[in-house]
Amino acid sequence: EKNGYAHFMLKEIYEQPRAVRDTLRGRISAASGHIELPGLDLSHDEIVHAERILIASCGTSWHAGLVGKFLLERMVRIPVEVDYASEFRYRRPIMRSRDIGLLISQSGETADTLAAQLEMIAGDIPTLSICNVVDAALTRKARGSITTNAGPEIGVASTKAFTAQIAALLTLSLYFAQCRKTMPQEAVQSILRELEVLPKAMEEALRTSAPVCARLAKIFSNATDVLFLGRGIHYPIALEGALKLKEISYIHAEGYPAGEMKHGPNALIDETLPVVCLATKDGDDPDSVLKYEKTLSNIQEVTARGGRVIAIVVEGDTAVSSLVEHTITIPRASEALLPILETVPLQLLAYFIAVEKGCDVDQPRNLAKSVTVE
Ligand code: F6R
Repeated sequence: EKNGYAHFMLKEIYEQPRAVRDTLRGRISAASGHIELPGLDLSHDEIVHAERILIASCGTSWHAGLVGKFLLERMVRIPVEVDYASEFRYRRPIMRSRDIGLLISQSGETADTLAAQLEMIAGDIPTLSICNVVDAALTRKARGSITTNAGPEIGVASTKAFTAQIAALLTLSLYFAQCRKTMPQEAVQSILRELEVLPKAMEEALRTSAPVCARLAKIFSNATDVLFLGRGIHYPIALEGALKLKEISYIHAEGYPAGEMKHGPNALIDETLPVVCLATKDGDDPDSVLKYEKTLSNIQEVTARGGRVIAIVVEGDTAVSSLVEHTITIPRASEALLPILETVPLQLLAYFIAVEKGCDVDQPRNLAKSVTVE
């Protein structure tokens, strides 16, 4: 039941710290630096000699796949391709013997994702699943799997399954990085330490952003279009923010890489257009800082044209708040962990806007929780 929450979606948004904690539990230990993924069922040699990872998934799970690409390529230096599962087989995908297939799905029953898995099996590559349902069709056919322990997700819009999928992808990336020695053990351990306290940081993000999102929802519920911008690993989160908003509030929303704005979408900006910008940074990571600075100039391009910016920033940021109308603050974290934290306010923003508009949050029109047709 809803445990006193108005909707399952809200309950599930608030369950995320627990969902992430349960997904990491027993798999990571910061003290020993040990990572354990016994369900993976890949030999050390297969991991060390893997040449490519092919990810296929749908919707929100596809966004998790895109985050996974950034994590795996950065930490493991292995090339990763991410496909919509519904597109995978229609491009006659090239598969080689040292490729590994990775299917991501909350339900484990999505027809397109199962079809992509069959294609991979026919291509003779091992498949792994990241799935929230034990013993789903996807897991049964996969060679190895990581279960996200988010618990049953009832709201049609995926929330806790998504952040749990990213937690699983972080664990997988660190595990591969250890096996392939692509990161110094101290760096692995430092992220493990941060992961252990991530649920606390998520609680903090919920606590501080909920009232702000509720207030912003009143201001922006009349919007007809909303843009979401992000760069690098934050770009898939922009896509996810847009998907959440459109599916439950029926407002047209698009996620865009921040740097692409000047190649077309800038033409859309006027005083009526809310633009949600992911402007977080990890001050210890030069790549993250560079990306942040570029995003700052993208924000200036939007405000100069009268666009109404809502920026997601980390605690202590003053540069952005002096530029924009509204900011939502999340706790500081390493770049790899920011996607999970910045997802929280985007979910809440979509939720409160949908409630403001009187939409059926848990059962949006035309959508099903599990899509079992191709
Ligand atoms: C969006 C949403 C859908 C699902 C998609 C894949 O909030 O829930 O986009 O993510 O239908 O479903 P799974 O993950 O069950 O394969």
